[in-house]
Amino acid sequence: MGQGVLSAGFARSAGLLRCEGVPLDTIGEVAGTPSYVYSTSTIRNRYDLLSDTIASVPHRIHYTLKANSNRAILRLVRSLGAGADVVSGGELFRARQAGFTGEEIIFGGVGKTARELAEALDARVLLVNVESEMELHLVDEIAARRRIRAPVSIRVNPEITVDAAHQYIRTGERGQKFGVPFDDARRVAELAATLPHVTLLGLDMHLGSQLSRVDPYRVGTERLTSIAADLRARGVGSLKYLDIGGGLGVRYDSEEPPDLARFAESVLPLVAASGLQLIMEPGRFVVGNAGVLLTRVLYRKHSGGKEYVITDAGMTELLRPSHYGAFHRIEAVRADNGHIRADVVGPVCESGDFLALDRDVQNVRPGDLLAVFDVGAYGFVMASNYNSRTRGAEVLVDGDRFAIVTERERYETLVQQEVDDPEWRS
Ligand SMILES: Cc1ncc(COP(=O)(O)O)c(C=O)c1O
Repeated sequence: MGQGVLSAGFARSAGLLRCEGVPLDTIGEVAGTPSYVYSTSTIRNRYDLLSDTIASVPHRIHYTLKANSNRAILRLVRSLGAGADVVSGGELFRARQAGFTGEEIIFGGVGKTARELAEALDARVLLVNVESEMELHLVDEIAARRRIRAPVSIRVNPEITVDAAHQYIRTGERGQKFGVPFDDARRVAELAATLPHVTLLGLDMHLGSQLSRVDPYRVGTERLTSIAADLRARGVGSLKYLDIGGGLGVRYDSEEPPDLARFAESVLPLVAASGLQLIMEPGRFVVGNAGVLLTRVLYRKHSGGKEYVITDAGMTELLRPSHYGAFHRIEAVRADNGHIRADVVGPVCESGDFLALDRDVQNVRPGDLLAVFDVGAYGFVMASNYNSRTRGAEVLVDGDRFAIVTERERYETLVQQEVDDPEWRS
């Protein structure tokens, strides 16, 4: 699949939007709305595209669960050859439920608890990406209690300014909470190499998300490989992995997607020269364009000179527009009935609850279905129960077949953890 192809698993034929071979209105009928719908072929194609891009160097692709942790998708990416990248005990649990073995899992995150670290070590994960000196000591202690050596990679903050669309998705800039500050990284890595219950296996970075320029990857890789060279010069012989994180962007609107040929040209020779195995942790790149959110129009309203389309999905289903100011293309599932300019808003009691503002959309009527595009990453995983709204269904399409892979929550789900008759303590 070429980079210019937008949301390739979705197309309109005979006036009707389809995901692969399945009309989206059929899914709307069977699964109800709001529902997330994912295209298997898109995920496969995107994974293969990345894997082909980095094929010339020894590599591992660890799919990042935070982008979309649906079990069916995890099984799919695992079947394509992916490992997993997790950032919480919950994600570790999900990854293992989906069939990933410990050695197929990397455990990262800036604030891992002692319990999570113990769970990671007990699962025999491939690597724990350590983000601070304090965490390194804690990992050493927990491993000592287990009489094992913890496999560790140091997440370095490469301190590179990137072009990510929103400040909340820039993670590798100076002063961010993530990673070990660049000036401390050599010292912390050397410390890791000397601690008795830690084996320093890798160096890691993550620049940010939704990146379209590839230069930061080159600069960051240079920074990591220079640390690796210094460590080797000081006798550290245990390094095996160079993890350059995730972050490759996708097209939502008119963004220029990263030039993968240039990415390969500028990054892979550095990796090859380092003698280390490349690790990448993609999320959005693999699943971002592979999903739509199906939502039904509830009402139309005219207020304050503005047209509103009120849908049964809002910020509780898709937080990205209100949280990041993100753009998602919206189209009516059935053919065009003219266009209007409108705010497409959800039912949540917040003025910030919208899917699109001042947008050219089809002239939809109550009952019509809309598809909100490119929501495969950071969509369902960020859904919430705010306003006691039940989370919708997730549907996977494969050719002419589809399956509900997450059932819509029921009202009972909302209260199942609440204690009816609490036990009072003092
Ligand atoms: C450490 C780390 N790795 C990988 C990713 C995946 O990023 P993306 O979905 O942009 O590829 C993230 C996302 O924030 C991250 O924090």
